Amino acid sequence: MPKAESASESNFIVGIDLGTSCSAVVTENGVKGVVESIVGWPQDIIGLKVLGNSIAIGDTALEFREFLEISYPLANGVIKQGVQRDLEAAEELIKHIISLAEVPEKKKICGIVGVPAKASQQSKQILLDLSKKHMNQVTLISEPFAIAYREERLNNSIIIDLGAGTLNFCTMKGRIPDENSQVSLEKAGNYVDNVLFDSLKRKFPDAQLTPNIVKKLKEKHGTILSGGGNIMVELRIHGKPQTLDITEEMISACSTFVPNMIEEIKKLIVSFDPDFQEEAMKNIMLAGGMSKIKGYDSVIKESLSDYGDAQIHRIDDPMYAVAEGALKIGTDIPVKYWSQLGETVATGK
Ligand SMILES: Nc1ncnc2c1ncn2[C@@H]1O[C@H](COP(=O)(O)OP(=O)(O)OP(=O)(O)O)[C@@H](O)[C@H]1O
Ligand SMILES: [Mg+2]
Repeated sequence: MPKAESASESNFIVGIDLGTSCSAVVTENGVKGVVESIVGWPQDIIGLKVLGNSIAIGDTALEFREFLEISYPLANGVIKQGVQRDLEAAEELIKHIISLAEVPEKKKICGIVGVPAKASQQSKQILLDLSKKHMNQVTLISEPFAIAYREERLNNSIIIDLGAGTLNFCTMKGRIPDENSQVSLEKAGNYVDNVLFDSLKRKFPDAQLTPNIVKKLKEKHGTILSGGGNIMVELRIHGKPQTLDITEEMISACSTFVPNMIEEIKKLIVSFDPDFQEEAMKNIMLAGGMSKIKGYDSVIKESLSDYGDAQIHRIDDPMYAVAEGALKIGTDIPVKYWSQLGETVATGK
């Protein structure tokens, strides 16, 4: 293969993951950045003064959300459609991600951006239109493919990306995965958060809960395993901190999508040629922020015991997996061939 153009004078390669919950960028210079996918604008002159800025992105938007007009511009892994403010927010997020990339002067920004396995043509077009305002060339690839590339599991493997908006599944069979080898389910981390919020509200009606508190509880204590001791957390009831037992609610909420996940994995195993099914079972990769919940690897292994000995690998640093995989593809393959990877737009500049 010809030497990658990343080393050329003018191109600067970045890998990007625009996620429902978090967006990440990594660059050929080794710069890494991550930001919560949330944008906010002050609603009046006082908000502007308190914020000291006309826009807030990520943690800052979360911190000042009380007096900001807030947008989460991504839903189910794609840019929301129909509301102008969400499109503006998506563009601000892309602009911000590019600013984190510390692009050297006079370089052309060539980005590979991960999209969910089953993103619609329309949603891809919106992403390309917004991205090309801030990059010289943009190519979209499927997120699980990016993960498979990063993990070097391009053949006889199953990638499961447990995100906030979607669970993405993909089989790798030695080529770029097509529509038929990918599935997305729209019950993922956000859904678990909603289930947990509702059940905690039912059990502790006077507890002061916000979606953000519940999400943080899940990130700290998330498990589907019983027998690990009770999950005791401090919550405020009528303003006073109290220690409460949330074990049952946590296990139950984190278990909600398990049957759907197992059903999909079984279908994917059967989709392999019988000669390769055993190998595919040894290459089941768990990615995405929700892969950090305790017990998903063991429940998958147990549920597949009839099929043989499955080996489930929880990948390292899952928050950067898509962006790093995208970067790796972008630096391995010369930019002029990127259009063979997926939908591509170049500004010609
Ligand atoms: N340590 C953790 N334990 C449990 N869950 C976590 C942890 N860290 C992050 N999460 C959850 O992972 C989800 C975010 O994962 P990820 O960043 O992979 O999703 P995303 O890429 O933003 O979403 P999508 O792929 O659906 O667009 C959120 O639901 C978040 O609460
Ligand atoms: Mg994701």
